[in-house]
Amino acid sequence: MDAFIDGLMSKMTIEEKIGQLNLVTAGEATTGSVVSTDVESKIKAGNIGGIFSMTSPARIRKAQELAVKESRLKIPIIFGMDVIHGYKTIFPIPLGLAATWDMPLIQKTARVAAVEASADGLNWTFSPMVDISRDARWGRISEGSGEDTYLSSRIAREMVIGYQGDDLSKNNTLMACVKHFALYGAAESGRDYNTTDMSLHRMYNEYLPPYKAALDAGAMSVMTSFNDINGVPASANHWLLTDLLRKDWKFNGLVVTDYTAVNELIDHGLGDLQKVSELSLKAGVDMDMVGEGFLTTLKKSLDEGKVSEDDINRACRFVLEAKYRLGLFEDPFKYCNEDRAKKEILTVEHLKLAREAAGKSFVLLKNENNSLPLKKQGTVAVIGPLANTGANMPGTWSVSADLNNTQSLVEAMRSVLGNKVNIVTHLGANLTDDPALQERSTMFGRTIPRDDRAPEEIIADAVKVSQEADVIIAALGESSEMSGESSSRTDLNIPESQKRLLEALVKTGKPVVLVLFAGRPMTLTWENEHVPAILNVWFGGTETGKAVADVLFGDVNPSGKLPATFPQNVGQLPMYYSQKNTGRPLAKDAWFQKFRSNYLDVNNEPLYPFGYGLSYTNFEYGAIKLDKSSISKTDQIKVTVSVKNNGNFDGEEVVQLYLQDLVGSQTRPVKELKGFQKIFLEKGKSKEVEFILKDEDLRFYNQKLEFVSEPGKFKVYVGTNSRDVQEAEFELMD
Ligand code: NOJ
Repeated sequence: MDAFIDGLMSKMTIEEKIGQLNLVTAGEATTGSVVSTDVESKIKAGNIGGIFSMTSPARIRKAQELAVKESRLKIPIIFGMDVIHGYKTIFPIPLGLAATWDMPLIQKTARVAAVEASADGLNWTFSPMVDISRDARWGRISEGSGEDTYLSSRIAREMVIGYQGDDLSKNNTLMACVKHFALYGAAESGRDYNTTDMSLHRMYNEYLPPYKAALDAGAMSVMTSFNDINGVPASANHWLLTDLLRKDWKFNGLVVTDYTAVNELIDHGLGDLQKVSELSLKAGVDMDMVGEGFLTTLKKSLDEGKVSEDDINRACRFVLEAKYRLGLFEDPFKYCNEDRAKKEILTVEHLKLAREAAGKSFVLLKNENNSLPLKKQGTVAVIGPLANTGANMPGTWSVSADLNNTQSLVEAMRSVLGNKVNIVTHLGANLTDDPALQERSTMFGRTIPRDDRAPEEIIADAVKVSQEADVIIAALGESSEMSGESSSRTDLNIPESQKRLLEALVKTGKPVVLVLFAGRPMTLTWENEHVPAILNVWFGGTETGKAVADVLFGDVNPSGKLPATFPQNVGQLPMYYSQKNTGRPLAKDAWFQKFRSNYLDVNNEPLYPFGYGLSYTNFEYGAIKLDKSSISKTDQIKVTVSVKNNGNFDGEEVVQLYLQDLVGSQTRPVKELKGFQKIFLEKGKSKEVEFILKDEDLRFYNQKLEFVSEPGKFKVYVGTNSRDVQEAEFELMD
């Protein structure tokens, strides 16, 4: 590769080198207000290195032909896209996928996404998104794996392996792009694109590991984030992109900015376009997404001595290397095969996997008196603004989904249940009373029809329809575009219009099941008190509706567990289980104590803790056993617990292991996830679950940023979620 690229670069003019640093859109599926122009002539002039959001082998072939036939050096183009949770076969939103805690399954979904996207001409995906987020106001919490460092790191790895397979040059793999580097999920106040200010201690221990895990798994590209980090925006942050990423982590792949992130450095206050392009290149950015600051200013900066030819060569080399690794120099058309596009997209197997993944992502939050599963009989009323919208099922950031051919919940339930169950349905309430808010929340074709009558009239009609039913399913919550990019919220309740509907449905006295659509943790205090059964279905992708039917009617036993804490109210945010203790912790089980760390108006507990999720069956945990009470640094300790399915259904359980370092040179979280196992148990069966802990699991970054363990006592917690655990203690000896 090196010799080939040396040879090629020796023939390139400086303009051609700068041209390689330019990533443009083809005008489809843009994610900002700027759209690239004159793409065709720029390709011919060698001014484009990559194109994103262009699909179909025929169109990609045409663009590639321009590059390899009509540009001077015939350098192929790289084609990228946001393939986030599936390509045409859409899987649950990433937060939902994380709720499966099922690593092989997650890897398979990424594999299928790669097969489909590459069959349609693509070779690069802007995924995985591994930003830790602990503030559910942030709309993009939906696009990541939630709040936990360990779980997110494990998932990051699976996604990269799924996309890249064992060989990036195969025609059915995609280059992964880990994003958004870095700390984008810690935006202040949960407002998108907002500032992040974070100690190194927190960065290294809690926020950086998932990016590192993705790179360790071989991800060959990184996307810089929009946010400011401790005073220097990520896209111009030399410490981040060079000292940490290149020097410490030894990353040797491609660094691309987010959409117009170079230009946005002007608004961050770093200078004009020429200045910010210079800063960004010198910080370590290789490719400029859409803004064309590099294309239009770097030559001038070179002539003025502000950037060096070495800076440009470095960036150009990383772009060319990515193309080389993808095998594009060997065969620029290797991804352009119409036959594959016809045969390998939306296959029966892919849809089957999507249905399985959706069913496994759902989290049963409440199931009083075993209201679920339902019997396949009688009349069921499916009421609510999410009942009859196919377009909202794929969930946010599914740009290539075929919205017109996605079944709504009601359509899917009818197709699964046939004539065994009579389904009646009604809108019941508008998504929100405020039409302008509804419009903002249903962009990109994710419409939900409105009824202009007074809310009481709509509710009265829905109640009338429900009177005929034996059970009411309330399909409520967020629309798909109420989460995702630029969709932050300050109120995490189900919108008022829908809440009133739910109250009226509960008042009918009939059994009510809340099927909650959500792109984030929501505040459900009222619902938890008054609704007998709550199934959180996030946005489950193409097969959402069928999977909901599978779970509601007992063909699938829910096994999802929350990857992010559900607070009682929005004022508790940011909220996460792995918090520090403070010097004035609340006494165990106390609601409030004066001069202790708490609130006057709400206790410190979440509504549903991290790792929480019910099943139709019951898992009984035996006593936790350690094979030793102390270990040395070269030793390991075995933790065992027996788990028994003593309920009436076969089912899956996620057995979770947390650690607490009791005394150290710096404060440590009250609990940190360090292991989990998803097990299947037939009813009546039990299993010994075993975890091995090593010194490496006890390590953390100390004040000098050394990754060390410290001798002393540790607690091990094992349980069904982060709250309901048993504990044991051991000591790490010097
Ligand atoms: C902006 C988003 O932040 C990023 O996640 C995405 O990959 C790019 N736009 C490209 O669409």
